[in-house]
Amino acid sequence: MEKDILNVSDLNVYYRNKQNLMSRIRGNSERSLQHVLKNVSFSMKKGEVLGLVGESGCGKTSLAKAILGMQKQYDGEIMLDCPNPQMVFQDPYSSLNPAKKIGWILEEPLRMRARMDKGKEKDRLSRAERQEKVDRMLGRVGLDVKLKEHYPAELSGGQRQRVAIAAALLCGTDFLIADEPVSALDVTIQAQIIRLLLKLHKELGISILFISHDLRVVYQMCDRVIIMKNGEILEQGKVEEIYGNPSTDYTRLLLEAANL
Ligand SMILES: Nc1ncnc2c1ncn2[C@@H]1O[C@H](COP(=O)(O)OP(=O)(O)O)[C@@H](O)[C@H]1O
Ligand SMILES: [Mg+2]
Repeated sequence: MEKDILNVSDLNVYYRNKQNLMSRIRGNSERSLQHVLKNVSFSMKKGEVLGLVGESGCGKTSLAKAILGMQKQYDGEIMLDCPNPQMVFQDPYSSLNPAKKIGWILEEPLRMRARMDKGKEKDRLSRAERQEKVDRMLGRVGLDVKLKEHYPAELSGGQRQRVAIAAALLCGTDFLIADEPVSALDVTIQAQIIRLLLKLHKELGISILFISHDLRVVYQMCDRVIIMKNGEILEQGKVEEIYGNPSTDYTRLLLEAANL
């Protein structure tokens, strides 16, 4: 049995929203707290692809941020057995520096590691070694090395998402959170990126928390799935079991809406 890579127990996240005038007049500070994640508990095995499904605004990204340490205020416990988890976003524009060429962007995590490991001379990669790693990774994610000379804006959406995935993997991570990574792409490109993520999962053994509002996509990607609504986990289990025999009306509705 594989070990857990992630264990979340009784996670609660609140956002303190700006108070509106009425609640300020009433002096009621409670009203400004939004309870975004409610007693969320689940775990993930090393090497697993776990789906997280729920409608927009239900708290998926908030959960991802808490796991990655980007949302520091929460109640509960998060244990992540990975020193450098990485995230791939729906819109890779937000994570790719528009002023830099793809080659520079992909080499940056390797340069950064070299800067952090200053003392350890033997672990430092030469420029040629870094470039070789980048070239190999470009091949792995199905991109031509010629793209190194291009800027993010010159790439298609699918190519940009491949670059974002390559950049995450060049950090040497074995845990990826993919937050709606194909939601902004055409269906055929979606299928290509899903095939790529599955290939990387098989070849490198990386664990993937795959966030989506699309049950079809999750069916293609994941071993297990969590169904979330309004910040709560409604049900979780094997994809075939939940899709074949949903235990809540909400899941049934989602399945019907997806024609599944
Ligand atoms: N930084 C924030 N501050 C205040 N409210 C937020 C913040 N981020 C998200 N929210 C609110 O929390 C809820 C959940 O958002 P989010 O986690 O982004 O959902 P999802 O990713 O499922 O669409 C939404 O109501 C959203 O408006
Ligand atoms: Mg989101």
